[in-house]
Amino acid sequence: MRQAGRYMSEYREVRARTTFLELCKSPELAAEVTVTAAERLGVDAAIIFADILLILEPMGIELEYSEGEGPVIHNPICVASEVDRLREVEDPGALNYVYEAIRLTRRSLREDIPLIGFSGAPFTLASYLIEGGGSKNYVHTKKLMHDDSGAWHAMMSLISRALVKYLNAQIEAGAQAVQLFDSWVGCLSPDDYQEFVLPHTRNIISNITAGVPVIHFGTGTGSLLELMREAGGDVLGLDWRVRLADGWQRVGHDVAIMGNLDPVALFSSNDEIRTQTSRILAQAQRRPGHIFNLGHGILPETPVENVVALVEMVQEMSAA
Ligand code: CP3
Repeated sequence: MRQAGRYMSEYREVRARTTFLELCKSPELAAEVTVTAAERLGVDAAIIFADILLILEPMGIELEYSEGEGPVIHNPICVASEVDRLREVEDPGALNYVYEAIRLTRRSLREDIPLIGFSGAPFTLASYLIEGGGSKNYVHTKKLMHDDSGAWHAMMSLISRALVKYLNAQIEAGAQAVQLFDSWVGCLSPDDYQEFVLPHTRNIISNITAGVPVIHFGTGTGSLLELMREAGGDVLGLDWRVRLADGWQRVGHDVAIMGNLDPVALFSSNDEIRTQTSRILAQAQRRPGHIFNLGHGILPETPVENVVALVEMVQEMSAA
């Protein structure tokens, strides 16, 4: 999940000198933040420092990250008739800064630590585009989806075409796996997921450069796991609301699984973290294809020493 972030003093120091968006757009700094976080935590893989929403800018969307409020979109697509305003991303070169950060990171990261590229998945990106920021009930998103399915599918197809180019360009630059974050797709009913999301996600995943693993992640997806499996991905991400053993059983042991410690567990004692971690590892039963991770992003107030302790625990318990 997130590795760099405000919970880490090394990150706060870099971040104090610049805005979040400027940091994403400075390849040297983004690479430094990526490598520092991976080294500080001792993790087995690094995720490039960027954000899921960056791909919206070349579509003509004005993006800002405001203190406290999170992402804000100044010109959201409020109604179906505005979908035409979205620009086709013909040339993913607008995001050259991400590819450059990947190249620089790959150069300074330990060779045996794989680097993960990523983006938001189409539904989650559409929800930001339409709501203008984070949302609780996704009223405008669902309304557009239900009231004008033609405009919805046109928008999702445009986003999907952009994502295929963007993720494959990250791979070309040196990303060794890519992750699609469908963070908010859990707000949908299974029927809506199947009709309005699944074909688009499937289309993207099937067009990712052959041989590069795709991690397909969502939260609150307990009722969508089988459908997400159908959409594709070499690895399915689980949050903590599902027992890992049950989730894996449901999607089949022929797909890899990632997860699923509650990020809030990191606020407890090392004993409690150890208890919850060993429960997850026991459920994975040492089957090949379990990637231990948090079930969602790390929270800003998380004590960094607990994250370091968690990584050590997982490495120790899985080696024993
Ligand atoms: O380890 C890394 O370097 C990870 C890079 C990364 C970021 N965002 C950097 C970031 C990743 C993988 C993300 C994913 C992301 N971004 C998601 C999916 C994961 C999830 O939590 O579901 C989502 C929904 C976003 C959108 C987003 N970006 C939000 C909601 C926010 C505000 C919330 C917050 O924590 O401030 C951001 C900003 C953001 N993205 C920060 C970071 C480090 C904090 C920005 C800051 O420094 O102020």
